[in-house]
Amino acid sequence: MILIILFFTFCRVSGVIYQLNDTEYIKMPPVFHLDPYELCIQETGGIYCMVDFDLVSENDSQLLNMIHEYSARKETHFNHSRLHYGICFKKSCDDLKTKTIDLNDLNLVIEKCLNTTFWKEYKLKIRINEDVICNSKDPIYHIETKDICVAVICLCLLIINLAGSVYDLLIVKNNDAGMKWLLCFSIKRNWFKLTDVSRDKIENRIKSFKSFNGMKVITIFLVITIHSLLPFGSSIDNTHYYETIFSKIQYHLLIDGSVMIQTFFIISGCLLSFNLQIFTEKNNVTWKMIPKRIILRWLRLTPPYAVVLAITTTWLRFAGTGPLWQKMIGQEIKDCQRDGWQNMLYINNYFDNTRCMAHTWYLAADMQLFILGMLIMVLTRTDLQRKVVLSVIFVVSMFIAPLHTYFQDLYAHLIITPEVAREYFVKDPTFNNSYKRGHTNVTCYILGLTLGLLIYKLQQKQLNIKRYKKYKYLVWATVPMMVIIILCSSLFYLVGVTPHVIIRAIYAGTYRTVIGLLLFILILGMVFKVETVYRVILEWQGWTSTVRVSYCAYVLHVMLIQILTYSRTTLNHVTIPHVIMSCVGSIAVSFLAAVPLWLLVESPITQLLKTSHDNTKNKTQL
Ligand SMILES: *[C@@H]1O[C@H](CO)[C@@H](O)[C@H](O)[C@H]1NC(C)=O
Ligand SMILES: *[C@@H]1O[C@H](CO)[C@@H](O)[C@H](O)[C@H]1NC(C)=O
Ligand SMILES: *[C@@H]1O[C@H](CO)[C@@H](O)[C@H](O)[C@H]1NC(C)=O
Repeated sequence: MILIILFFTFCRVSGVIYQLNDTEYIKMPPVFHLDPYELCIQETGGIYCMVDFDLVSENDSQLLNMIHEYSARKETHFNHSRLHYGICFKKSCDDLKTKTIDLNDLNLVIEKCLNTTFWKEYKLKIRINEDVICNSKDPIYHIETKDICVAVICLCLLIINLAGSVYDLLIVKNNDAGMKWLLCFSIKRNWFKLTDVSRDKIENRIKSFKSFNGMKVITIFLVITIHSLLPFGSSIDNTHYYETIFSKIQYHLLIDGSVMIQTFFIISGCLLSFNLQIFTEKNNVTWKMIPKRIILRWLRLTPPYAVVLAITTTWLRFAGTGPLWQKMIGQEIKDCQRDGWQNMLYINNYFDNTRCMAHTWYLAADMQLFILGMLIMVLTRTDLQRKVVLSVIFVVSMFIAPLHTYFQDLYAHLIITPEVAREYFVKDPTFNNSYKRGHTNVTCYILGLTLGLLIYKLQQKQLNIKRYKKYKYLVWATVPMMVIIILCSSLFYLVGVTPHVIIRAIYAGTYRTVIGLLLFILILGMVFKVETVYRVILEWQGWTSTVRVSYCAYVLHVMLIQILTYSRTTLNHVTIPHVIMSCVGSIAVSFLAAVPLWLLVESPITQLLKTSHDNTKNKTQL
């Protein structure tokens, strides 16, 4: 082990600075800077601009060379030759105090002003590479027709819910007669559905999946935690400290934990195949089911998602102000107005360069894999056919990620670097080509489908659990193994060499599969009650209600995190307690906000679909 580390240490590339001590570090201009915002805006004619610019130099500059070499270690360092400043016009630019500003050549004016200051302080010049974004006292956004439309739709939703509740409370009372569709919107009944943990109506077989609640909620907690850390990368004053976090292995458990999203794919595949098996006990499976189930699923998932998307494209822009707001949110709102339809069709993970609700790549990938799963399960009839098809797709899918990695020269796994975090992954080739696509996540979904079939079969055999108790050590080993694998993947960049592309390709193919297999074992152990330690945690009653709102929390959380972090007007100061507070706060706020969305939108729609489904069934039976 030590030899390997030594080997890697000597393999480090020349022309890259891996570390700087504090005295040298402060010679570099800070990456982020914000002038006081309120003071500037309140002044008459005060203009506040966000400027992104590159450091340049006409003659050879020692400082600039150092900056380039330090930035070349891009896995753990910011790009220190690209700075992001918020500048108060009248205050910072001395020679402009008296002149009136012509907004047309704003870029030129700011460039000139910054050229002077940077020359004075660092003997460097600058070049602006993006249009500057300026704020003044006047509001930038005005209410438009589409805002009114969205508001009216939301109001209608609210009114239907109120009507349903009043109808339930005053007219129908406790019996089940009356207008079924209106009762779906009764907040009281939906609240009862949310908090009801007894669930004795449910079949024993499905009860054995109770551990999924814990797994799902914990995974969502992890997702929100990681996402709540991303905005820190876009405006902090202690960049040096932030960069050292990226080179400490203990934090990589979180930073490289993105592979845990595979839990969802396994669970989702498992439930699909298991439920279909139960369905076939009493019903005929025909190919007509495929479009029907897909449409039902679309109808169930889309309404909450559509509400959040609609609010993102319209009212979100009024939810904050400040120098970061327009820069960070403006782009997303514009992209959502242009590309929102892709999200509604669940194909947005095949389009790059759009920032519209980027976290929903998962929903799109899951929908695509659901369609694949339905096709496999419905079109293969015999066990043998299923085995062949599943194994063939499994083997083929193991080559997809490696091929992408090899031919597009990607990282082995999603590496969160300071710059990637700052840009929200939009331009990260690994995220775009290997992480978020549907076809690159097939492996774990197939594992999930297999798992569902296996569990169904084993349950029918009524096997004696006692004989399998000895496997509990295997189940216990899964979680530490996952931790080790995640830490292994972080070695890739901690040591500071980029491995050969073939090694990266092989790793990209195997580590997802291995995590998938570990989850496979873990879930088997949970379902058949082989061990108790993890089961006590994962089957805790408290997860039951939480997991019901988890979809809404997932859809909502990025918007909430953005509102919380981008309405700041000063730089963040990263400290571990602050980060913990921000993570816990984000989780709490996301789940709290998810409750009304679930009560008012998701649950009523689900009930509505159920009743209409039952109705059509009854009709065909008559
Ligand atoms: C930092 O590094 C420079 C050059 O390597 C050295 O001259 C200086 O003494 C160091 N400062 C501290 C505080 O260690
Ligand atoms: C840093 O940014 C500059 C300017 O945008 C770019 O030319 C350079 O390649 C970047 N450095 C790294 C290591 O990405
Ligand atoms: C600022 O300096 C850079 C580099 O010398 C130069 O290209 C640019 O034209 C200067 N800008 C202004 C407005 O003078």
